[in-house]
Amino acid sequence: MKSKLLQKFNEVFGADGEVRLFFAPGRVNLIGEHTDYNGGHVFPSALTIGTYAAVRLNQDKTLRFYSMNFENLGVITSSVEGLVNKTEDDWANYPKGTIWAFKQKGYSIEQGMDVLYYGNIPNQSGLSSSASIEVLTGYILKELFQLDIDLTQIALISQFAENKFIGVSCGIMDQFAIAMGKADHAIFLDTSDLSYEYAPIKLPNAKIVIACSNKKRGLGDSKYNERRKECEDALKDLQSVVKINSLGELTEDEFEANKGAIKNPVQCKRAKHAVYENQRTIKAIQALKENKIKEFGELMNASHVSLRDDYEVTGIELDTLVEASWKQDGVIGSRMTGAGFGGCTVSIVENDKVDRFIEEVGKTYETKIGYKADFYIVDIGNGPFELV
Ligand code: GLA
Repeated sequence: MKSKLLQKFNEVFGADGEVRLFFAPGRVNLIGEHTDYNGGHVFPSALTIGTYAAVRLNQDKTLRFYSMNFENLGVITSSVEGLVNKTEDDWANYPKGTIWAFKQKGYSIEQGMDVLYYGNIPNQSGLSSSASIEVLTGYILKELFQLDIDLTQIALISQFAENKFIGVSCGIMDQFAIAMGKADHAIFLDTSDLSYEYAPIKLPNAKIVIACSNKKRGLGDSKYNERRKECEDALKDLQSVVKINSLGELTEDEFEANKGAIKNPVQCKRAKHAVYENQRTIKAIQALKENKIKEFGELMNASHVSLRDDYEVTGIELDTLVEASWKQDGVIGSRMTGAGFGGCTVSIVENDKVDRFIEEVGKTYETKIGYKADFYIVDIGNGPFELV
């Protein structure tokens, strides 16, 4: 990988001067979906697939970006001053946004740089290729400009970039999972105060299999922001009868006792999902601690049902994948992961059943949807690092 990146870097930007190489992972969320902007819990892991970058400072206050995934777009250039989101800059709005966000937060970034990116996360798959680029860029800034900043702050500034520069009102899960990733662990994160705990994922008899629906989606033009607004409106109604700051503060019983205050029935379903999903996530980590993998899987399945029926973010592609997965032998649990509206599913599948799982679910999907799904057996990896 190193020589491939360096060779391309030299070809695109010339061979003079020291080039440094960095990596940041993608992420998969095991359970706790659409809870992170509702003050609830999430349970994601960083992956060993992610985004690589080769980078060199330059002397002319110009940022030059090149992606080996979008070679047709060539080098995308921007001044380090006055960064603005431009449609024609396409993917490069993510690194631009991160640099903009660092400057907004008072970090002095005055020097230009040449950066080449290469990602091995499938694009728009819901495995957070964009948050991976953001956190990677933040980590590069920390290292190159020797900024006094920790990984949690890098996650928060990357989220700020996504919210204010890209225009997606995402929560903190993706950027946090990527910045704080730890091999063979998932992160049980309380998004109300960012307290967290690493939980070992020990699955000697099973693998984590991701199925990518290949239905492309962009968060910006999806219904993500609309869902967030529906939850905020439901919260306002609930606040007229209970003293809470977020939906994550309610148990299922408290929700049932007070849900009558939510005037709009659609908003009531959205809030129900946020409350129940948060409680499922709390139960899931408990089940895992007690080594009750079957129960963990059942909670994953229930999460999907709620995302399908109450939150309505699944769609025919993800439902087909998950419902076919549930029918296979050796499947401990299966659900959509990420924002939904296309993207991926995550399944826990017994080792000796994985091949058959991929074959059968793949066949059912192609027959029903008309194109193929892609399958990845993934490993849980670390947060960002420099390749030395
Ligand atoms: C996207 C967002 C996250 C989170 C998930 C849904 O991945 O970026 O903040 O809200 O959707 O759980």
